[in-house]
Amino acid sequence: MFETLKEQPADKILQLMQLFKEDPRENKIDLGVGVYKDASGNTPIMRAVKAAEKQLWEAEQTKAYTGLAGDPAYGDAMVSLVLGDAVPRSQVAAAATPGGTGAVRQAFDMIRMANPAARVFVSDPTWPNHLSILKHMQIETVPYRYFDDETRGVDFDGMMADLDAVKSGDVVLVHGCCHNPTGANLNMTQWKALVELLLAKGAVPMVDIAYQGFGDGLEEDAQAVRLIASSVPECLIAASCSKNFGIYRERTGLLMAVAQDPAKQKLNQGTLNYLNRQNFSFPPDHGARLVTMVLTDDALRADWQAELEEVRNTMLGLREQLAGELQRLSGSDRFGFIAQHRGMFSRIGATPEQVQTMRDDFGVYMVGDSRMNIAGLNKTTVPILAEAIVKAGV
Ligand code: LMR
Repeated sequence: MFETLKEQPADKILQLMQLFKEDPRENKIDLGVGVYKDASGNTPIMRAVKAAEKQLWEAEQTKAYTGLAGDPAYGDAMVSLVLGDAVPRSQVAAAATPGGTGAVRQAFDMIRMANPAARVFVSDPTWPNHLSILKHMQIETVPYRYFDDETRGVDFDGMMADLDAVKSGDVVLVHGCCHNPTGANLNMTQWKALVELLLAKGAVPMVDIAYQGFGDGLEEDAQAVRLIASSVPECLIAASCSKNFGIYRERTGLLMAVAQDPAKQKLNQGTLNYLNRQNFSFPPDHGARLVTMVLTDDALRADWQAELEEVRNTMLGLREQLAGELQRLSGSDRFGFIAQHRGMFSRIGATPEQVQTMRDDFGVYMVGDSRMNIAGLNKTTVPILAEAIVKAGV
């Protein structure tokens, strides 16, 4: 049987992690996978998460199963974090998933069940694993223009023109904030125009929100997803706790299906439970429990928010420093977009050859499409990267 299997392409982001590990150079710089790093290159456990873990160790009495959708308190806490009071809780079906990727996968599964003919429109570019999962599931994917190679901002006119082809029942996948891989994001006027288009077309938005709190702030980063959820009859939202709680390996995510028609909530919840059961049964609990504890305890929550703000401001500071350094070295303003982008990533618009040159000559590891993880930098490495970018001819 196994001889019929074909070699599968390696995930480029994970492959880069390996290449970086194997590079013996001491001054190498890892701007690859989307993991937050502090100035000394460590990915710390957040203070509030550590404190919750200690409390949990003392207090937890059982490891018996929770529910198919996870602990309901986790769903409530996360729905509130992502959606605020944009929609009544009674309109939201929610299920815990193994990470944000699990939520994305379950969402695609639900789409396929509900409408096997649905096409999923994805930004060009999008997170490569979106495309990989869609291909694996044999769901038709249609790219829409997103990134303007000239300005390194959003090509909003191109995006709207391409989304004109959306038909009723199609799904439009958007990144709720901190677009991955580009770092370029819609403003609220553009989000409103997009919502109008989706309403006119009868399309179903699917929002992937994996970086809430990394862009302009926890509330600010949720504005788009809240606008969408409160405006359209139906939408899907895949949320991740990996980054904003720093619990990557705990695999903690949530899939939400929002429907204005309250009669659909029960059906949606039943479907989410069913899909969890088919794919992995009960979702992981440890990370979800920590998140619930942090979000529902005033002191832990305040400390978590403060640390998240530190992380966000550190990244913004690095963006400013890099843009400034590049302006100095290149004598031009063409890198100003780095300070405008938001989240962990920026696509800097280098060619694959230039990316390779930076890797070979400077030990700078960024993804082949020239996505760099800002959090992989510190004050000392910013000038080195700036020199690499300019010397590689970007
Ligand atoms: C990334 O884009 O680097 C992260 O989302 C990690 C991953 O799983 O690819």
